Amino acid sequence: MASIDYGEKIPNNVNLGGDRRLQRALEKWQPAFLDWWGDVGPQVFKTDEVYLRTAVSTKPGGWAHFGHVRMPDYRWGIFLSDPEKDRVIPAGDDAGKKVWQEVPGEHRNALKRIIVVQADTEPASVEQQRWLAASSPSLYDARNLFQVNVEEARHLWAMVYLLHAHFGRDGRDEADALLERRSGDEDKPRILDAFNQPCREWLSFFCFTMFTDRDGKFQLASLAESAFDPLSRTCRFMLTEEAHHLFVGDTGLDRIIRRAAQLTRKDPNGDARALGGIDLPTIQKWINYWFSYCLDLFGAEVSTNAADYFAAGLKGRFREAKAYDDHLAREGVKNIPTVKNGAVVDQEVAMRLAMNEVLRDAYIDDCAKSVVRWNKTLEKEGLSERLALPHRRFHRRQGLYAGHSFDVEGNMIDADAFEAQRGEWLPTEDDRDYVESLMKGVHEPGKMANWIAPPRKGINGQVAEFEYVRTDA
Ligand SMILES: [Fe+2]
Ligand SMILES: [Fe+2]
Repeated sequence: MASIDYGEKIPNNVNLGGDRRLQRALEKWQPAFLDWWGDVGPQVFKTDEVYLRTAVSTKPGGWAHFGHVRMPDYRWGIFLSDPEKDRVIPAGDDAGKKVWQEVPGEHRNALKRIIVVQADTEPASVEQQRWLAASSPSLYDARNLFQVNVEEARHLWAMVYLLHAHFGRDGRDEADALLERRSGDEDKPRILDAFNQPCREWLSFFCFTMFTDRDGKFQLASLAESAFDPLSRTCRFMLTEEAHHLFVGDTGLDRIIRRAAQLTRKDPNGDARALGGIDLPTIQKWINYWFSYCLDLFGAEVSTNAADYFAAGLKGRFREAKAYDDHLAREGVKNIPTVKNGAVVDQEVAMRLAMNEVLRDAYIDDCAKSVVRWNKTLEKEGLSERLALPHRRFHRRQGLYAGHSFDVEGNMIDADAFEAQRGEWLPTEDDRDYVESLMKGVHEPGKMANWIAPPRKGINGQVAEFEYVRTDA
């Protein structure tokens, strides 16, 4: 197993020791980061020992060290995936030319903005979730929450490294500002709206890691196809960690769904709530809410910004280098239905202008795979009900469909009809109160809250009773 050197202040594979100026700058940023972690990082089990993995290299299969650690002692390192030999620009007008190791002047502002917006989401989610462990359904789940939190904080480090190493003075200012903004703060909120609401209960946490982290996966994947090679390498390694965050969300929901099915069958009236579970209609409402919210994060369906980023090689499509032959995308159109005179009509859009929608398509396909798995769980548990993703036009607040009303199948309806059915499609106050009423922490090793099924296996091969958090340490 890979080991960890606590003597090393900032573990890294970027030869920080060989660049004294950069090392000093990051060592100066580090205390501010630790203050931030203490103030708005996890506030529960704050100094207890948690069984966490720590990135210690980028070797496939051997990059992580598992062990108990107090979170303030965690080692947040800077790791970039190994350089790909002779890598060329995957997409856009310069496709096939050598990738950039430094930021070209003409793309400096755009790249800085892309990095800052991505970076800002990383600490934001930690802030949103800082009280959540108090109500964790088990220590296994508390540990998974903390794993996600420490890795989001490492992603912040990864982005701050890029800002410090490649953007000079403004990069350093942006790195400082990342620790000054706060989720939900009136004066200095986080940049994206979705990251300014506190996360109060675990159904939302699992939806967040299922749907919002998955948005992150696709944003990172598109940046992994960037012509700016340090950004590409950074994102490739972040994706390795991100896979676990998605696992937490996907399997967390699967466990709630399994339990919902069991309780539905057990109750004489088929009501999981009567037995203290979260019923399937409620789970469906949370899916509708989070999926529609996360679709907004991909940006406008028709976007000149997206076209410019693609043309310049700053971003690519999902698996651009591997999955596409035509990396120019100068030809071809995409049908993006739009609203005209009160009806949805087809609209042909030049491919480059449709890049946000192309990425959104890949995201929707990925989400749909999880729904198939959840429905298999329902089938295995002997239930005929099924879950589904709502249509991409449902409940949107950004882009072409914002300001119009659609049902979950994507049919246009009038605003009154939407309001009349809102409570059937989206969480009501009562639903939220009910779900919150179930959130009572279960903090004994091996014990599980009633509304969620146990995981199929432990983390890193550990048994069910394993002490994921040493609460008496
Ligand atoms: Fe992240
Ligand atoms: Fe994540």
